[in-house]
Amino acid sequence: MKTVILYRSKHHGNTKKLVDAIVAAHPEVDTIDVATLGKNEYPDLSSYHCIGFASGIYYGKFDADLRRVADHVLQAGDKVFLMITYGGASKDYGKDMAAIAQLKMASIVATHGCVGFDTWGPFKLVGGMGKGHPTAEEVQGAVDFYDTFERDYGEILVNEYEKRAKRLAWEAAHPRGGLLDDIKRTAKKIAGKR
Ligand SMILES: Cc1cc2nc3c(=O)[nH]c(=O)nc-3n(C[C@H](O)[C@H](O)[C@H](O)COP(=O)(O)O)c2cc1C
Repeated sequence: MKTVILYRSKHHGNTKKLVDAIVAAHPEVDTIDVATLGKNEYPDLSSYHCIGFASGIYYGKFDADLRRVADHVLQAGDKVFLMITYGGASKDYGKDMAAIAQLKMASIVATHGCVGFDTWGPFKLVGGMGKGHPTAEEVQGAVDFYDTFERDYGEILVNEYEKRAKRLAWEAAHPRGGLLDDIKRTAKKIAGKR
């Protein structure tokens, strides 16, 4: 399975710890830190069977740059997993990315998250929350998540990718000709029925 993880980890590098551990265990996984991309730079991810988005949660959401990039790069039929670190868990985290994926007709196949050290706002005054997180176990938890994901979905995602590639190639070789041709076809059908 060819995987790329796009990530943003701007607070304490908590999310990056999870991403780095996955790459250490799976050197074949590519990563893109969206902080290194130019404002109008959108990588071509069409050769990947699977796309991961990983981010800290900032004001209840994925990083804004990561969301913008997701909005530009996702294609219909893409298979996606999400990874987050947060100060305090909420079932709402990830809904913003799910909405983007849905509009692009991409599917979110799995989500993983854990607590990350948080010194945002008032928490700074008390020395931060979640000190020491992600722990070694939580970092290993992210690797286990990816292992399980690849074991359970790897073959399926590769098959789905190949099916889509075949369909796109067929469509490219057999252009439908646009709206006018559709109207002509419909008119012929109606005429034929009479
Ligand atoms: C500006 C800012 C806003 C944050 N907002 C939230 C939030 O709404 N909910 C939450 O659970 N954690 C929040 N956090 C905590 C981060 O999600 C947490 O520390 C995360 O692990 C940061 O990941 P990173 O080090 O990879 O950037 C916020 C942190 C910052 C800096």
